[in-house]
Amino acid sequence: MYGLKFPHSARTREIRFVLNGSETSVRVPPGYTLLETLRYVLRMTGTKEGCARGDCGECTVLVDGVPVHACLTLMSQVEGRSVLTVEGIDRQHRLIRAFVEEGAVQCGHCTPGIVVAAYHLLSQVPRPTEEQVREALRGNLCRCTGYVKIIRAVLKAGEA
Ligand code: FES
Ligand code: FES
Repeated sequence: MYGLKFPHSARTREIRFVLNGSETSVRVPPGYTLLETLRYVLRMTGTKEGCARGDCGECTVLVDGVPVHACLTLMSQVEGRSVLTVEGIDRQHRLIRAFVEEGAVQCGHCTPGIVVAAYHLLSQVPRPTEEQVREALRGNLCRCTGYVKIIRAVLKAGEA
């Protein structure tokens, strides 16, 4: 079980869930978010923290196949559920390859959230249109303002 960073005096609770296909158990204080647990307890830093208030989409993960903001999701809400983070996506997946080939990873900060959102889109719509890609990524902000390569990469993955 993870979660040993908390002092013995801290009030914590065990939460069990499935993370990227593996049964996982953590002990966290009440009110702890999924983002805090991923990054600071499990040391899985692929999921990024931008605004921490649901505005930027950098922390996007899938819970039972649905995109959510990990920064707004309490651990109590993921108990018994299945979470997919960017680390759970195969590196050889057509989406990852397309991001690399198109140079869509710029500074990289928004990339994990965008990849997860795009992965969800492709699972629903294997060959999306540009309009569908733009709509699916509407909640993911890129501070590098370089959406052209990102959209091109998702379209390319759809054509692969
Ligand atoms: S860090 Fe969660 S939406 Fe910005
Ligand atoms: S690649 Fe830099 S914030 Fe998007």
